[in-house]
Amino acid sequence: QGGVFTFDPGYTSTASCESTITFIDGEKGELLHRGYPIDQLAEKSHFLEVCYLLLYGDLPTPAQLEDFEFRVTNHTMLHEQMTYFFRGFRRDAHPMAIMVGVVGAMSAFYHDSTDITDPWQREVASIRLIAKMPTIAAWAYKYHIGQPFVYPRNDLDYAANFLRMCFAVPAEEYEVNPILSRAMDRIFTLHADHEQNASTSTVRLASSSGANPFACIAAGIACLWGPAHGGANQACLEMLREIGTPDQIPEYIERAKDKDDPFRLMGFGHRVYKNFDPRAKVMKQSADEVLELLGIEDNPTLQTAKELERIALEDDYFVDKKLYPNVDFYSGIILDAMGFPTSMFTPIFALARTVGWISQWKEQLSDPAHKIGRPRQLYCGATRRDYVEVENR
Ligand code: SDX
Repeated sequence: QGGVFTFDPGYTSTASCESTITFIDGEKGELLHRGYPIDQLAEKSHFLEVCYLLLYGDLPTPAQLEDFEFRVTNHTMLHEQMTYFFRGFRRDAHPMAIMVGVVGAMSAFYHDSTDITDPWQREVASIRLIAKMPTIAAWAYKYHIGQPFVYPRNDLDYAANFLRMCFAVPAEEYEVNPILSRAMDRIFTLHADHEQNASTSTVRLASSSGANPFACIAAGIACLWGPAHGGANQACLEMLREIGTPDQIPEYIERAKDKDDPFRLMGFGHRVYKNFDPRAKVMKQSADEVLELLGIEDNPTLQTAKELERIALEDDYFVDKKLYPNVDFYSGIILDAMGFPTSMFTPIFALARTVGWISQWKEQLSDPAHKIGRPRQLYCGATRRDYVEVENR
């Protein structure tokens, strides 16, 4: 079949690239960005600082951070013509469908940052994508619920600006709750990058052909949408609601273990982690804090989630297969408490992951050895045979 190659469905043992961005030790349950542990970043840093770290390799000095935040803040607005692009969708379109379309369409609006051979254009495209993604996600939501778009306000920080664009209504006062804005920022931080997951690998593969950055990120968003990947946060909250009360949990656990039942515990299991996903630990703690601060700590969904986690982690099936809660298990509970519908959970993941996709894209382009991705296959079809005229078949 044209040379020697290994058969590795799902790429369980194939390294596709060298990278200096993110390190995961799946056995220990450790996640480092540029060497810094995710729990420290979630507690002490904030999203735009983590963006800088992922993009440029080191934590910024105060001056570098100020300059970076200024550059991001000055690109939050969308070209006014893009409002028509949103309006072309059906009102009931899923916000992820709108995001795939709108982000792909950015290459038609920002021609001056599509030349990937020009480092300056690459930089502008990176900043534009990080800056505009909250506006795009918020407008996808506003369009979906039939409300007017709220324009970005550059005096607000990244997370607060996003919340305002989602929940404010023009001509009415809206104060961003600082508890919610801090929780939102932490959710962004926890989702920022995760080495060569399916959507990041999609971005890298799309980019390997020389495609423009907006097309590559749109491809990443499309991949992320699947329920086995970023779509799991929406699926998980819907599952927890369907379970309803803790007494129903054993039935769902049995279904998840049944090979003949397609049902799987959403927000559970991971290709790399064979221990707790460290992001899920922070997310669980964050869910407790946020719900307590909002005075809704007796939230039934949170209680069901905790009980489900407890029962699953004592069950031989989950223990033997090393299946633990992942990043998507608790995030939906916080987003739900903030007032987001489940259809916005995956768009929020996409918004936050954009910096990871871009960091990986930039790293790939700056590697002089990079070449077009081209997996091979094991051909299992018919051997050579001669064509038979239709009247003779
Ligand atoms: C994300 O890769 C990343 O880094 C992704 C991510 C990121 O930040 O980018 O971390 C984000 O995508 C998190 C994962 C979200 N998905 C889900 O929560 C969906 C539910 N989880 C599973 O579908 C699954 O665990 C995956 C997709 C996450 C991992 O799939 P793998 O590595 O291909 O593992 P597998 O499906 O082959 O499972 C191994 C075994 C199987 O049983 P056996 O055939 O060996 O008997 O474990 C079982 C599976 O049936 N299993 C589960 C299960 N997950 C795996 N059984 C019940 N419930 C589950 N959730």
